[in-house]
Amino acid sequence: MCGIVGAAARRDIVPVLIEGLRRLEYRGYDSCGVAVLNGGTLGRVRSVARVADLAQQASSQQIAAETGIAHTRWATHGAPLTQNAHPMVSRGEIALVHNGIIENYEELRAGLIAQGYVFESQTDTEVIAHLVHSFYAGDLFDAVRRAAKRLTGAYAIAVMTQREPHCVVGARAGSPLVVGVGDGEMFLASDALALAGTTERIAYLEEGDVAEIRLDGYRVLDASDRAAAREVRIVKAGTGTVELGPYRHFMQKEIFEQPQAVAETLESLGEVTPALFGEAAAEALPRVKSVLVLACGTSYYAGLTAKYWIESLARVPVQVEIASEYRYRDSVPDPDALVVVVSQSGETADTLAALRHARALGQPNTLAICNVATSAMMRETRFAFLTHAGVEVGVASTKAFTTQLVALFLLAMTLAKLRGRLSSGEEQDQIRRLRHLPTALAAALALEPQVMAWSERFAAKDHALFLGRGLHYPIALEGALKLKEISYIHAEAYPAGELKHGPLALVTAEMPVVTVAPNDALLEKLKSNMQEVRARGGELYVLTDAGTNIRSSEGVHVIRLPEYYGSLSPILQVVPLQLLAYHTALARGTDVDKPRNLAKSVTVE
Ligand code: M6R
Repeated sequence: MCGIVGAAARRDIVPVLIEGLRRLEYRGYDSCGVAVLNGGTLGRVRSVARVADLAQQASSQQIAAETGIAHTRWATHGAPLTQNAHPMVSRGEIALVHNGIIENYEELRAGLIAQGYVFESQTDTEVIAHLVHSFYAGDLFDAVRRAAKRLTGAYAIAVMTQREPHCVVGARAGSPLVVGVGDGEMFLASDALALAGTTERIAYLEEGDVAEIRLDGYRVLDASDRAAAREVRIVKAGTGTVELGPYRHFMQKEIFEQPQAVAETLESLGEVTPALFGEAAAEALPRVKSVLVLACGTSYYAGLTAKYWIESLARVPVQVEIASEYRYRDSVPDPDALVVVVSQSGETADTLAALRHARALGQPNTLAICNVATSAMMRETRFAFLTHAGVEVGVASTKAFTTQLVALFLLAMTLAKLRGRLSSGEEQDQIRRLRHLPTALAAALALEPQVMAWSERFAAKDHALFLGRGLHYPIALEGALKLKEISYIHAEAYPAGELKHGPLALVTAEMPVVTVAPNDALLEKLKSNMQEVRARGGELYVLTDAGTNIRSSEGVHVIRLPEYYGSLSPILQVVPLQLLAYHTALARGTDVDKPRNLAKSVTVE
């Protein structure tokens, strides 16, 4: 997704801007650019290649400056062409970068054309640049403030003008923006991570804020045009966390980091208590009558898994909804519901909007399960659980998913305990099993050579089916999502019992059918579904464990986890599926960490 960096300093800030973009690269983008003020002249370089190409262009043109803004763009309005890359410039005087989507851009564009503005791009962003220009009368801060009031939609912007060196103005609504505080220099960025290595002193702007940075400080006006103080926090975004180390791809690194990520997420676990979700949870969780999980993509599948856990362990009804559907649906709110948003980034626009919608409907008990401590979701919910997966760079979510599952399992146990459904013996037993998870995950990772043999066969396929039942149906969904997003093989997942109601028509010898088949209560039912596949000549790839007697035979390929892990089995079963997607993508030569058309953090609707 798009990324913003801006700077005003008494030194050459081009390296800071380029490094900031490099740090945001993992979010996914298809063009990038930088604009600088040099001796009162606006200069701009843009590229539809990588940030490395932008850096090369900036260096060969010997661009150096003390004020600048930079951007990585993930195309929404207009193709990824140079003319659509940011920064956008209005009449050679105002340069602007933008994350988000302006919904009323057509109406604004028509008005600006009537005023004589000429558009060079198909973007909604150029509208904001001209709008700011149209309001400019010697005070950029005021022009941005007035322009922002005309915008409908989501945005974070950074703007500068050649008439005001050492000044950059930012504004946000719906997309994140932070101020980075240095010594005699100031920065703006869409994510504190972009400023790692430059400053750790970060002020998070709030909805509707307009901020101006200058050499000696910054000022903020809130949505009602009142001066606002935004607390400066120390944010250790870490400079080493985005290094690849000995791995070929971040996805590979992150898959192999799962034992550590789970261990760190469980580090402070002593007993199962509402306090795991924040102090205020002790008073609210006992009164919860239902649970509503809102999430997108992989995080949604974590939520689906949690439904099985919570309903079976705690006997509390759970609804799991795709955030982008919930936010626009005419739903029936339950004031006694616990609304759980699950998100790696904590900034996913649909999930954030769904959270706000849930609250607006009168559901005050909100919990974020999230991997970024400083994210909007962590700040906007009453209760919070921070997963300690560490920075996840690969677009395909892996270690964030397994740590989300751990957090959700703890929630299921907490609700069960509060309802007298978890004896202390069972609690101790489950805690022991949770603590053993890192070791069990390492054993699952050791299956990699066997998975690689599968991936050689998958690489030549165009389609794949994934089957699971009960608790492992969401894992089949996650396996299919992983495969499609990075290998571009069309993959679908079904609850295995549904096969005969339609998808069985697809099964031929050309259709690999991956079956998640642990030794659980539904195994015998699942075996019948596997027979249905074999009877139609379908090739089965079965992921099972030491508890079953499923053996490899003609058309049946088996990989066996060393032990059946009971309720926590999904956390292990997903690992070979992640490896399958990774190695299949590798064999097909795709861009594993930055798959086409996708972004890491989806901060637009
Ligand atoms: O940051 P979030 O967990 O809210 O992101 C949600 C989805 O965008 C994300 O899980 C996406 O589906 C991943 N690419 C899946 O690998």
